[in-house]
Amino acid sequence: MSKPRILIARAVFPEVLQRLAQHFEVQANPQDEIWTPQQLLAHLADKDGALTTGSERIDRSLLAACPRLRIVANMAVGYNNFDVDAMTGAGVQGTNTPDVLTETTADFGFALLMATARRVTESEHFLRAGRWSKWSYDMFAGAEVHGTRLGIIGMGRIGQGIARRGAHGFGMEVVYHNRSRLAPALEAECKARYVSKEELLRTADHVVLVLPYTAASHHTIGAAELAQMKPTATLVNIARGGIVDDAALAQALRERRIAAAGLDVFEGEPQVHPGLLEVPNVVLTPHIASATVGTRLAMANLAADNLIAFFGGRGPLTPINAPAARPVAS
Ligand code: GLV
Repeated sequence: MSKPRILIARAVFPEVLQRLAQHFEVQANPQDEIWTPQQLLAHLADKDGALTTGSERIDRSLLAACPRLRIVANMAVGYNNFDVDAMTGAGVQGTNTPDVLTETTADFGFALLMATARRVTESEHFLRAGRWSKWSYDMFAGAEVHGTRLGIIGMGRIGQGIARRGAHGFGMEVVYHNRSRLAPALEAECKARYVSKEELLRTADHVVLVLPYTAASHHTIGAAELAQMKPTATLVNIARGGIVDDAALAQALRERRIAAAGLDVFEGEPQVHPGLLEVPNVVLTPHIASATVGTRLAMANLAADNLIAFFGGRGPLTPINAPAARPVAS
């Protein structure tokens, strides 16, 4: 019997490629080209499965042109690049990579919060530019982190990891807002108190965004929400571009309506709103919250495991939908 054909849409670890090649007829993208939707369609049209990242959009028109496609395994926990309803309707399984990145991503959320509050990159730029001629009492004086109030919007696994770090490691008072409240035992473990979004924005010293991107979460933080925040507050976004209105944020930072922001994700990334590049009180990183070698390898292997289990008839390990089986195209 011939092996299923799969497309690996972006460059991955060679060992993961080798594993996949034992099970599948693989088309890879070793040059790591970013394909246009038309190019992606051309590569995917004759494939049974695919391994994607957040840069490939799987939508209704693509699915209609890929009659053999039965599974798309995203190497990310977020899957806003998938039209899940269209996939389910077309009988295409989707999978993501939860759990393996939780602690690493929570570490990074905290790193970005620390760097933002304590002005790490701003002061480094100053030093590198040769401008450090003397110490002074208020040089790069930033915001306190320990013992302050941490507000987390989006209290899934990563949000809970950030809450634990804040409460247990830094003695912070943690408040959170989420679509649904956590079970009391989990709230106690995270030492986190549920509040309204308004109360969180009004009272938190540091606001961290860790919610999924959906139509409902688009611009969760815009000009009105920024105006509610304390002028001394920091804002950290490790969730998705589009959750923050980047133009409104650039303006708020320029006018010092909030103290600072740390951003790992951007609207329209890898483009970054020019206003954000102009202000000093923002720490900018290129979507690297899960980027340790161990975690990225675990994510790639989990995406591969999903493909192997699915085509081995065992069902995917981390499904995001439950489609009826797609008739096998010849
Ligand atoms: C990264 O952003 C992910 O969703 O895993």
